[in-house]
Amino acid sequence: MTKVAVIVGSLREASLNKKFAHAFIAHASEGIEFVYADIDLPLYNGDLEASAYPEKAQALKDLIKSCNSVLVVTPEYNRGYPGVLKNAIDWISRPDSTEVLNNKPVVLAGVSGSALGTTQSQSQLRNVLIYLNTKLMGQPEAYINGGRFFTESGEVVEESKEWLQRYVDAAVAHLSSSN
Ligand code: FNR
Repeated sequence: MTKVAVIVGSLREASLNKKFAHAFIAHASEGIEFVYADIDLPLYNGDLEASAYPEKAQALKDLIKSCNSVLVVTPEYNRGYPGVLKNAIDWISRPDSTEVLNNKPVVLAGVSGSALGTTQSQSQLRNVLIYLNTKLMGQPEAYINGGRFFTESGEVVEESKEWLQRYVDAAVAHLSSSN
């Protein structure tokens, strides 16, 4: 069975990106297991790495290692991707940047609160994920305007359901590809 680590770049309880991850999982075919990763980690510090590698950072590494692939859903903060996500990537890249993400299929999507979408955060994150030798899905891309995509009660609006299903089918095929 394909096991997918789900990383949401927002820690907010009512996060739209978390809602999108839930909707993605609800539209995925059966036979895939999704596991949410906790990226609420201490700030990366080389001294900490040398003397007391944080348990939560080790747990994140172990979780991703136990998965076939990774789904990342992230907001954009000030035209970049959130520090909490960069911090998590920095931890899992240490001490060996090829240990965890090397050759893993990765799908990247993002939700923002506006029509501007997450183009800049995703393009910055793409550079990082390519550097880390992941098998990153190029297309289809997903830049979601959360205000239009979800109803006030958090459901996916009717007009977007067909697109979502096509996107999830393509993404799941990528996440299930061998690494
Ligand atoms: C934002 N937001 C935002 N949106 C965007 O499209 N481009 C941007 O550069 C920014 N910058 C930004 C900075 C900071 C510090 C915050 C807190 C927010 C708005 C952001 O996309 C919106 O709040 C999302 O809803 C955040 O994602 P979650 O928490 O709902 O998943």
